[in-house]
Amino acid sequence: MSVSCCGQKIKLETSQNKNQSVMNKGKVLIVFFSHAGENYSVGNIKVGNTKLVADEIQKFTGGDEFEIVAEKSYDMPYNELIKLAKEETQRDEKPAFKGEVKDIAQYDTVFIGGPVWWGTYPQVMFTFFDKYDLNDKTIIPFTTHEGSGLASCVEDLKTAYPKAKVLDGFAIYGHEVRSKMNNVDNWLKGLGYYNMKSLIEQLHQGAHIDIRDTEYQQEVHSEIDRCRHLCFIINQTDPGEKEKVLSLEHKLIDDMAENAFLTPPFQIDLANCLHLGNNVFANHGLTVMSLGGITIEDGAMLGPEVGLFTVNHNPEDVRIVYTKPIIIKKGAWIGARVNIMPGVTIGEGAIVASGAVVTHDVESHTLVAGVPAKEIKKL
Ligand SMILES: Cc1cc2nc3c(=O)[nH]c(=O)nc-3n(C[C@H](O)[C@H](O)[C@H](O)COP(=O)(O)O)c2cc1C
Repeated sequence: MSVSCCGQKIKLETSQNKNQSVMNKGKVLIVFFSHAGENYSVGNIKVGNTKLVADEIQKFTGGDEFEIVAEKSYDMPYNELIKLAKEETQRDEKPAFKGEVKDIAQYDTVFIGGPVWWGTYPQVMFTFFDKYDLNDKTIIPFTTHEGSGLASCVEDLKTAYPKAKVLDGFAIYGHEVRSKMNNVDNWLKGLGYYNMKSLIEQLHQGAHIDIRDTEYQQEVHSEIDRCRHLCFIINQTDPGEKEKVLSLEHKLIDDMAENAFLTPPFQIDLANCLHLGNNVFANHGLTVMSLGGITIEDGAMLGPEVGLFTVNHNPEDVRIVYTKPIIIKKGAWIGARVNIMPGVTIGEGAIVASGAVVTHDVESHTLVAGVPAKEIKKL
């Protein structure tokens, strides 16, 4: 699904870490090592914890990434890797790595990050430190770990580059990287960087966002305010003035096919994340929370008082939200007072019986009912 939402980007400078601000300090390189596969506390992961943090830094800084990939393979069960890494550390081994950084002189600031392995960065990162002289640069260390924090990484970088300006560094638990990326974002903002992507784009890519953030208030609430105003006007308009209602609906929803129609009154919070196909019809009382993106395909019909909800809250801190899109495929029929929850796709020609709460995808041409909705029969 392609969801195009626009939002304003704003520059944020916080008072936090002001003395460590590196904004406007030139070109950024992000050097990191990360191990995908079986790992402590997160199971078998396709993308390593540190790589996710490095990618987030890239989004904020627009810098180039260099991933240190060892020539030898670390693709092995966790317990074997622990043993191997311990031996490498004890022997102060310097495993070779693949590739090279082109023109290291062009960079002014270098983020250096990796997992903590036996109290410091993996040995292959020290091979990198031996090869590249970063003494004239600002170095910003970061780690992901399972209890050691920055361990001796900052000290080891200061030893490797005694003349460089090595900042305090940032550490995050590996098992928290996926749910608490906003901690990384706050650290980067404190350094004077800001995210190049709109907040809505970030949410659509799985980001968890704190609704107290100024950026959230600016970008999301400006659209919410616009929609509230237009919904108010539409909901007050005489239903006899159908042309007027329709033209206001098109003003509200940019991506709405000519012959779609929503029966007022309705409440839509972010119309710029709502996409309506041909002949879509919704009866009165529709409630839409579309921050995560909602697509209703051609010919789908919605009964009275249907609710579509794409937003969820982090149970540890309910002010942190994340979203998943809803897709209602062609010709589906959603009964009265159905609620559809984040991430659900309703298949083509499916029917959802009145009063159902849909928490999982519904296959095409299937009737579901109940709370939570379960399959009744194939159609
Ligand atoms: C070989 C090995 C050694 C580790 N040693 C430590 C350690 O000394 N302290 C610690 O807090 N975590 C340790 N961990 C946990 C990792 O630092 C943590 O899971 C990290 O987030 C992994 O990042 P990655 O997925 O980017 O490789 C170790 C993990 C491995 C695989």
